[in-house]
Amino acid sequence: MYDSILGKGMDRRTFVGALISGCAIAATGMYGLYGSSTAQASPDITQPPLPYKEDALEPFISKRTIEFHYGKHHKAYIDNTNQLAGAAGLGNLSLEEIMKKTAGSAEQVPIFNNAAQAWNHAFYWKSMLPGASKPNERLTKMINDSFGSHENLNKEFQNMGVTQFGSGWAWLVLDQGKLKVTKTSNADNPLVHGQVQLLTIDVWEHDYYLDYQNRRAEYVKEVLDNLLNWEFAAANLPKGV
Ligand SMILES: [Fe+2]
Repeated sequence: MYDSILGKGMDRRTFVGALISGCAIAATGMYGLYGSSTAQASPDITQPPLPYKEDALEPFISKRTIEFHYGKHHKAYIDNTNQLAGAAGLGNLSLEEIMKKTAGSAEQVPIFNNAAQAWNHAFYWKSMLPGASKPNERLTKMINDSFGSHENLNKEFQNMGVTQFGSGWAWLVLDQGKLKVTKTSNADNPLVHGQVQLLTIDVWEHDYYLDYQNRRAEYVKEVLDNLLNWEFAAANLPKGV
């Protein structure tokens, strides 16, 4: 379902490319991060383009915030994933597969953290769009069945974002046929816990500090009221639900 969020890069390695990169790694391995002279294939995860221009979410999220958040933070998670997963021999896996394979492994926490953050951010960019949208008829019924009203959903979503202690994420998910809002710490996400993610709001400080400083509640409310992409939420619903 989430294959379109992030996947293997278009430039899949070729035999010649592997030989070249293998030579390069072998040449630098002695001084490399992992001290290995063994050529390791990178998963070639590529950063998906922003679904809108960097200033498109203003005045709620500034161009400057997006420049740093997308251009520095998100990119770093992807670069780190390629490096760490390649060195760990996971270069043949997609991002989602890396995330699932390393979830819960004490030895592979750095790989999971970077892979999940790469995935979460790609999902987050798609969870927003310029201009407020509304849930379609199907989602409106599900929201009313699960929360009583859209207003109640927003209150619970807001509460998840504000009460997440430290860094993390607030989510709208489908769990056993019902909509729920939930929160996760740091890089964790509901996908590895068997839930279907529909929307997310990033509540790491790097996401709002330039625009809102410590006023996380204000940032979360602006996203809820003005930026959520309900078409994306509808597209994430499994068929037959
Ligand atoms: Fe972030």
